[in-house]
Amino acid sequence: MIKSVLASILLAASAVQASPALTERGLENAVSTDPFTVPKDDRNPRARAAAIDVKRKGWLYSTYPMGVAYYPTGTLANKTIAKDQESWLPPIANLQAAIADEQVTARAAIIAKGGLNKLEDYANLYDGQWATSFPDGPFPGMLTNFTDDRLFSMIRLSASPYRLKRVQASDKLLFPVDAAASITGLSLPQLQAQGRLFIEDFSEMKELDPTDKFGAGCQAYFYIDPKSGDFLPLAIRPLVKGREDSALIYTPKDQPTDWLLAKFIMNQNDGWHTTWAHITQSHSAAEAPYLAAIRTLSDDHPVMVILNRVEKTPWNIRPLLEAGVESGASPTAGPQYYAWTSLSGREWANQVYSSGETANFQSNYYRTFLQNNGLINSKFGPALKSFPFYEDASVVTEAIRAFMTSFINSYYASDKAVAQDTEIQAWRSETDVAKHTSAPSFME
Ligand SMILES: *[C@@H]1O[C@H](CO)[C@@H](O)[C@H](O)[C@H]1NC(C)=O
Ligand SMILES: *[C@@H]1O[C@H](CO)[C@@H](O)[C@H](O)[C@H]1NC(C)=O
Ligand SMILES: [Fe+2]
Repeated sequence: MIKSVLASILLAASAVQASPALTERGLENAVSTDPFTVPKDDRNPRARAAAIDVKRKGWLYSTYPMGVAYYPTGTLANKTIAKDQESWLPPIANLQAAIADEQVTARAAIIAKGGLNKLEDYANLYDGQWATSFPDGPFPGMLTNFTDDRLFSMIRLSASPYRLKRVQASDKLLFPVDAAASITGLSLPQLQAQGRLFIEDFSEMKELDPTDKFGAGCQAYFYIDPKSGDFLPLAIRPLVKGREDSALIYTPKDQPTDWLLAKFIMNQNDGWHTTWAHITQSHSAAEAPYLAAIRTLSDDHPVMVILNRVEKTPWNIRPLLEAGVESGASPTAGPQYYAWTSLSGREWANQVYSSGETANFQSNYYRTFLQNNGLINSKFGPALKSFPFYEDASVVTEAIRAFMTSFINSYYASDKAVAQDTEIQAWRSETDVAKHTSAPSFME
């Protein structure tokens, strides 16, 4: 049991950081006589303890404006961060240069085609453009099927399902939808009673600090269609601060342009969530246990070796984003596709980490999370007939799980051996110091 818990934490750390470079580097270079040992097998425990002590003094905790989790500081930490910078800055500078070049060409091509007059013209933005900076272009179907409700609903099940929940029988509904029966064949309470109803709630985004663009915090219903079994959008309610009482409810029965607008407003919320939550759910949540490990595990500990391979140059992300937030802090700067300032992005990212939404380690294990939200293995209502996010993520994640399980089994004969590993236990205690929420226990 504890062995599998240890395998799980490694799994979670690697799932968020996995990239092709890991396989390229390969473990095959490792020497055949394993130089890595758990503490009880180390023939020089005193030297080992002294080396950990040096790391503890050179890797200290420092608060950081972005992402809440501590950021490392100290002599050793600063040296590593400076060395990492040499490898991560050049590719970013190259990408920025490519964007600057290619946007000139893209603008000229659009003007040559008569400009942006109707919605379909936006596809010209990508026609033969962005060869270096965006070679794969937008999602398949995005430029042709953008009015199709299935494209809108399947974005939820393909890109980011993190705010999607099946409505349970006892849940209070967010708002009524009078047209439900004429759209689905079932009333809203009937959809709920049959376990066919889902919600996505971004209403807190109405509080964000606005730019001169228009945005709202949306609540939406989705449903599994009784006839086709398709997962489809039912209604969207955009909420604007101070005008909540007059909020309109949009459905597929509205004018096509009105309904499309509602879907756009909702996609802004989802995009914002994907952009800003990523910092904390993928980065801060992995950096916190990594920094705790650096301060407690010997560099000869096999778990530390794995973590070092998985956490490649992790300390670059937050400084980069922080620089972006600061340079985009004026209301007219920053990403023009969002209606809120980059400063409020940082604040929102800090909030979703602090609340535990993106930071709680165990409840965010992907299967636990999806199951708790009624998206997989639901005893209530029909199953989703297609769930690309889960179908793809499970292949990768289960392969990593199998690897980590056999890795842990190769070093520990029993759960007791894990419980007796003093460094692993120190790591677990250190995660409290590192303010790492809901880290699993490795005790028997
Ligand atoms: C490490 O870097 C931080 C940020 O630049 C700085 O404030 C701190 O003084 C440095 N610490 C050492 C020991 O060099
Ligand atoms: C666009 O929609 C059509 C009609 O449903 C479908 O056949 C096609 O596969 C879709 N295109 C993409 C790229 O998903
Ligand atoms: Fe990332």
